[in-house]
Amino acid sequence: MLPARARLQTIAVASGKGGVGKTNVSVNLAVSLAQLGRRVMLFDADLGLANADLLLGLRPTRTLYDLVEGRVESLEEILVSGPRGMMLVPSASGIASMANLTPAEHAGLIRAFSSFQQPLDVLIVDTSAGVNDAVTSFCKAVQEVLVVVCDEPASLTDAYALIKVLHQDHGLRRFRMICNMISSPEGARRLMRKLTAVCAQYLPDVMLDASGIIPMDEHLRRAVQRRAPVVELYPGSPAGRAFIDLARKVERWPGSDAGLGGIGFFIERMLQSA
Ligand SMILES: Nc1ncnc2c1ncn2[C@@H]1O[C@H](COP(=O)(O)OP(=O)(O)OP(=O)(O)O)[C@@H](O)[C@H]1O
Ligand SMILES: [Mg+2]
Repeated sequence: MLPARARLQTIAVASGKGGVGKTNVSVNLAVSLAQLGRRVMLFDADLGLANADLLLGLRPTRTLYDLVEGRVESLEEILVSGPRGMMLVPSASGIASMANLTPAEHAGLIRAFSSFQQPLDVLIVDTSAGVNDAVTSFCKAVQEVLVVVCDEPASLTDAYALIKVLHQDHGLRRFRMICNMISSPEGARRLMRKLTAVCAQYLPDVMLDASGIIPMDEHLRRAVQRRAPVVELYPGSPAGRAFIDLARKVERWPGSDAGLGGIGFFIERMLQSA
């Protein structure tokens, strides 16, 4: 076990367009970081179509909704343990919006997260498709926003729309681009050039880092069908290796000094921005 680190990395995974690979990026990054010895919590923030549990082969019996409704009081009661010891906060399907919580629900949620005592290195938030209030409030509460794009016009325009809203309406400036379902290195370069060019032209203050490339890989599809992360089932596959490379890169990103109280702090920020 590695010693507790005084920093916590918080990462949201978003895309605008649906079905481009957010949940696979979230799940495989979480498991890869856990494999590297990090203590990882994955927060399934897709309030509509939660499926991180499915991709991890888990069957949670309680969700964040039980916490919000007061049926359980601590985060530990809803957490489920996944591959390599990563932890999943099962989605709050049932909560229409984080913005509509009553003051008591709000306080209960903050209390539950603040009293979570286990040390944590990384928090990853898998968001839903679209550019809605839930997505923007999660993206505003974290340090790093990973924007997943694939080589389709709709993915590019939706990624741009997401970045534009987060920048113009919410003041975010730095984004990390993950190119997914890539067929060739040239395809990835072309995709990065396109998004970088349109941001440079219309949103000149935005900084876009090309942070990772995940190949189109049949192993990943097979892993989804078998309800296991590709990094667990086919670690040597092209996608499996790409996720480990991404995790090694993410490990080197700076975290915040929020320390162990960081997770309560994150929830508070998230609810404030909602
Ligand atoms: N690198 C890849 N190679 C091959 N297939 C992929 C890859 N990434 C994603 N897919 C396919 O795309 C599907 C959707 O992926 P995923 O559920 O991660 O997307 P999502 O962005 O989370 O979707 P949603 O917007 O519905 O939440 C997967 O089930 C898989 O079949
Ligand atoms: Mg998803």
